[in-house]
Amino acid sequence: MSRIALKLKGSKNALDAFTKSNITRLQQHKLFSTGSQSGRLPGKVALITGAASGIGKAAAIRFIENGAKVLLADVQDDLGKSIANDLGPNASFIHCDVTNEQEISSSVEHAVAQYGQLDVMYNNAGIIGTLAPTILDLELEGFDRTMAINVHSMVAGIKHASRVMIPHQAGSIICMASATAILGGMAPHDYTVSKAAVVGLVKSTAAELNQHGIRVNCISPHIIPTPLGVNGFKKLSGINDEKIATKMAHNLWEFKGAQCEASDVAEAAVFLASDYAKYISGHNLVVDAGFTCFKRLNFTP
Ligand SMILES: NC(=O)c1ccc[n+]([C@@H]2O[C@H](COP(=O)([O-])OP(=O)(O)OC[C@H]3O[C@@H](n4cnc5c(N)ncnc54)[C@H](O)[C@@H]3O)[C@@H](O)[C@H]2O)c1
Repeated sequence: MSRIALKLKGSKNALDAFTKSNITRLQQHKLFSTGSQSGRLPGKVALITGAASGIGKAAAIRFIENGAKVLLADVQDDLGKSIANDLGPNASFIHCDVTNEQEISSSVEHAVAQYGQLDVMYNNAGIIGTLAPTILDLELEGFDRTMAINVHSMVAGIKHASRVMIPHQAGSIICMASATAILGGMAPHDYTVSKAAVVGLVKSTAAELNQHGIRVNCISPHIIPTPLGVNGFKKLSGINDEKIATKMAHNLWEFKGAQCEASDVAEAAVFLASDYAKYISGHNLVVDAGFTCFKRLNFTP
């Protein structure tokens, strides 16, 4: 049994089925070798925050599968190190609390020192926030914390990534927004406001960084049953059973034959990071199967 298979078997935090199947695919495609030139991100260097779980982890896998080298950054050190180890020599881990500008700056420096450049900054880390059910329940201290993790961090990420990208006059910066940024009422106020701010931040910085060949975009998914998505849904709905909560979250919106998964966002991120998206900047790529686009009319009398 391979080192990775053994690790997966013994790990307390066993990677999910998606991770397993993708690591197997990485092995089959021999993408564990350094300097892979295959895939849509050949030779690119990416820093992904919040990469120890959910969407960030899925993105790290897909990026490496597509030929990138990835520095995974997170506050969950053991989990992040274990995932980076499982992903092979094109992955490494750094502790980074995204509320700390110095740690973001150091992570960017680390990526450049280790891999020689930074092509992609994926500001993904985020929290669901206070989960305050009403505006009257919202403690402003909690609001500030949500803004620190979900917004300040992205300002700092864009600032320090562009600091090293501007001299090269190239780069792709991706931020995690949410469908809640588009449609009110889907999440508590602090989370909704923080994600709407990300969309504004992306447009504002994209306008400036265009002149340096740096693209800035965001991704806005519908609910996905990651730890953030499921825990948030459980608290908001009062449903404690994880399986039922996951099913209900998926059932919030229907698209025949598909459910919103972390891998769908990872694919969107691979596209935005790649040269195939070379003329796309300031864009909010919504991954919600039309949820925020339309309402079906009810013609019953
Ligand atoms: N899951 C969803 O339904 C959903 C929908 C839309 C947008 N998003 C956004 O996607 C992003 C990723 O969320 P996810 O669903 O994968 O959640 P997740 O909880 O699975 O992963 C979030 C990761 O961020 C890390 N993190 C939290 N605070 C941090 C900090 N201060 N510094 C560094 N890392 C920190 C966590 O340790 C965790 O590994 C978030 O920005 C979230 O708002 C999620």
